[in-house]
This record gives sequence, C-alpha cells and structure tokens, in this order.
Amino acid sequence: MPETRTAGVTGLGMSVPSRVLTNSDLERMVETSDAWIIERTGIRERRIAAPGESTSTFAFGAAVEALNAAGLDPAEVELIIVATATPDMLFPATSCLVQHKLGAKRAAAFDLEAGCSSFIYAMAVGAQFISSGCFRNVLVVGADTLSRITNWRDRSTCVLFGDGAGAAVLQPVKPPRGIFSVVLRSDGSGADLLKLPAGGSSLPTSEETTRNGLHHLVMNGREIFKFAVRAMEEAAAEALRNGGIKQEEVDCFIPHQANIRIIDALAKRLCLPAEKVLVNVDRYGNTSSASIPIALYEAVSTGRIKPGSLALLVAFGAGLTWGALALRY
Ligand code: UT7
Repeated sequence: MPETRTAGVTGLGMSVPSRVLTNSDLERMVETSDAWIIERTGIRERRIAAPGESTSTFAFGAAVEALNAAGLDPAEVELIIVATATPDMLFPATSCLVQHKLGAKRAAAFDLEAGCSSFIYAMAVGAQFISSGCFRNVLVVGADTLSRITNWRDRSTCVLFGDGAGAAVLQPVKPPRGIFSVVLRSDGSGADLLKLPAGGSSLPTSEETTRNGLHHLVMNGREIFKFAVRAMEEAAAEALRNGGIKQEEVDCFIPHQANIRIIDALAKRLCLPAEKVLVNVDRYGNTSSASIPIALYEAVSTGRIKPGSLALLVAFGAGLTWGALALRY
C-alpha cells in the first residue's frame, strides 16, 4: 500500500487578458453608471479576452507560472485538472489543450465543472490523488472566459464578469502544511437560477436559440445573492469545525469574488475582520473558476499569506454548488 500523504500548494500562477473594461466603458454600452456598479457590486474594472484568446490561453499562462514557481518540469506533471464552465469547446477538454501546449507528456487531463465553485472542487479532487499515493505532481487550473457567454445588452449581468485564470501546483507536503479540511456541497433544485440554456444536449444551438439569446448566461441575481451568503457561511463554518480550528486562527480568508456586498455580509457573519479578507473584485470582477486562484496568488505574492499561514477558501456557484477548503501554506 502506498503511504498516505498530505497535498499542499507548492506553486501558484495567474494570467488575465491585457484589455481592461472599465465601468465608464460599460456606461457607453448599456444603461448603467459607474456609481451604481461600484455601490451594488464593488467592481471598478474587469479584464476581457481579445479575439483569438480563449480559456486555454489564460489557463496555459497561469500554468506556466505555477510550474516555474514550484520548480517543476512539465514532463513531471502527472495530472492536469482545468476547472471551467467556459471550455474552449464542449470537447475535447480544455485540460488536454493545456497539456499539449505545456508538453506535459505524462499527464492525465480532464476538465471539472462546478460553476464558480469549480476550483475548490478541483483542488479537493487533485488532493485526493496525492493522498491516495496515485500521483505526486498535480496541476489544478481555474480558468474562465465568461465574456464569451455574456449578454452585452443585459445590464443586470454584463457588468459583473471578467476573464482570466489562476493555477496551483499540488505536491506532497509535510503536515501541518497542506490541505486539511474540505467541504463540498450541491443542490440541483437551484439549477435554473444561473445557467447557460442552449448549446448542450437538451437545447442544441439553432437559429431559434441564437435569435432568442439562449446562448447567453441567465441569472436570478437576487436569489443567487441570498444563496451565496448562506451557503458560504455554512461551508466555511463546517470547514473550520472539521479542521479543528477557530476563526481567529485564520490568517487569510479568500471568498469567491462575485460582489463586495456578498463578501462583506459573509465576513460579518463569520466575525472575520476586514484586514483578513482578500478582496480583488474591484479589479477583476467575477472571474468564476479563476477568482479564488487569482486571489490566492495575489495573497501570496503580496505577503498576506506566508509559509505557515492558514488560509480559508470558500466559493459558491451555478449548479447550485458550494464548498470550502482550509490549507496551511
Ligand atoms: O458567481 C456567481 C454569480 N452571480 C452572482 O454572484 C450574483 C449575485 N447577485 C448580485 O450580485 C446582485 O443581485 C446583482 C449585482 C446582480 C444585482 O444587485 P441587486 O442589488 O440585487 O439589484 P436588483 O437586481 O435588485 O436590481 C435593483 C435595480 C433594478 O431596478 P428597479 O427594478 O428597482 O427599477 C434593476 O433594474 O437596479 C437595476 N439594475 C441596474 N441599474 C443600473 C440592475 N442592473 C443594473 C445596472 N445598472 N448594471
């Protein structure tokens, strides 16, 4: 029997498009205002993919940086998981495109889709392969290009999203370092609250679906808002309880970056002081699967997470899905 091992993050990377879309740009596209967007969401600008760029572009960029940070040759990677709801194509998996671009010749590759919770799910899955002794070098990427499924005439959604990717290398580490508590949940009764209606097997793309705009994301914002606060509070509290830690021991809290009001309400319920809460939604908007790894990357590169720091990651998303993950860096 292979020994049981703990998985930890040994390298991080991120990649976002260079094109910035500001709130004043959006004022010229739909009936909205910089003041409304900032007050209701906290978002000031977001990054938008250029023609020719796609989810694999950013996933690859983030992956290269994460592998360099970990000092890992692509040929040594054994598994690549790309967490995404906006793959380059329905198939083949975007992870295979990344595998090829990296030259990760020995790696297994698959995509994982759990809405904006996908990165937490993918980290949990990647960690299992390490704990079981199956693999030693796992690359987990959270990447999305929501601008490609956004209805740019719908002001209630088009102001919210941005594109990009973040990546983490998982390898065996010595406790107390590593991922030590994971909570994953789902509730498909809320599937209609946030979805991309057409383009799948239930409603294949047709002239009619295109005419009716069903190839665009649709969302019940108010219901998702209420669910988000409730679900993330539940997951975060359970991850702390399962890991035997108190909230005051958390050094850095990284919630999914969807809306500053959701983040503030959540931090308040969890009694977490603002200085421990990572916020970058103002600069990137909601980047879906990329939001948590980009925030984790920034927390580490700015020194807010240091070796030994305790980080609590928590997300919610379409599905519905939600989850939390506690790790010692
Ligand atoms: O990763 C998961 C993705 N989803 C989310 O995280 C979404 C969660 N929900 C939210 O973040 C918020 O519900 C929104 C930001 C989407 C909306 O904020 P809200 O405070 O819930 O606004 P609302 O939907 O209740 O709308 C209030 C008003 C409406 O006007 P009336 O009906 O009161 O006249 C909207 O038409 O604000 C209007 N509105 C806007 N006004 C200016 C909606 N979007 C805009 C806009 N600019 N962009």
